[in-house]
Amino acid sequence: MIIRHNGLILAFDVDWDTKRSIVFLRGIMDLIDAVKVGWLQLLNIGPNGIKELTSGINTYFLADIKLGDIAHINEYVIRRLRDLGINGVIMHAVTGRENLNGVAKLSRDLGIDIFLLISMSSGGELYDLNLDYNVKLGTELGIAGFVVPATKPNIIRRVRSMVGNNYQLLSPGVGVQGGKPGCATASGADFEIVGRSIINSESPREVTLSILSAIKDPRC
Ligand code: XMP
Repeated sequence: MIIRHNGLILAFDVDWDTKRSIVFLRGIMDLIDAVKVGWLQLLNIGPNGIKELTSGINTYFLADIKLGDIAHINEYVIRRLRDLGINGVIMHAVTGRENLNGVAKLSRDLGIDIFLLISMSSGGELYDLNLDYNVKLGTELGIAGFVVPATKPNIIRRVRSMVGNNYQLLSPGVGVQGGKPGCATASGADFEIVGRSIINSESPREVTLSILSAIKDPRC
């Protein structure tokens, strides 16, 4: 479970070395609740670099590799990510119950959270056609929560109405993809996930503070 102080997760989509990454993160760590890492880190600083990040910065690390393989590969990846200091992992729902059952149990045993991707901030029509099925699947698997798009507030509201307050809803698609800051949390998400608006800004701290103001006082 991600502890909510501010309602904001940084999508840390950078190909920077670990030293530069750590300096950047230290500049805004008090404003964000978790750091989302993924393919950019895996392909540039690699697993050892990720371990350096998770050892150097004291926060919740969410791995967004949109994992979606057969069971034994999923389970290997979860174990390995746990060794690297990752606290939560985003997985595709589309692979279905048989491929998710074992990994959901393993993740509970290892103390790592699974967030199930059940709708996408762009496209993803096959997901949206099967929304209720995938939400139900996630609740039966006993995962930590769901990824729901800021660009589709109706879906956020629908998922929240289905799962109550027992699951965390993480919402990407804020800023560059079109979601207005503050509106995903106003629609029922627990956290907004923001990347480029912060990372590419000349003044990341000021931008982050303005997103936090919108989360506190949404105008949607
Ligand atoms: P930006 O720069 O647009 O970054 O703020 C968005 C981040 O969120 C990820 N993303 C998604 N992840 N389901 C997901 O699980 C989605 O629908 C989705 N849309 C965007 C993206 O990889 C980036 O890190």
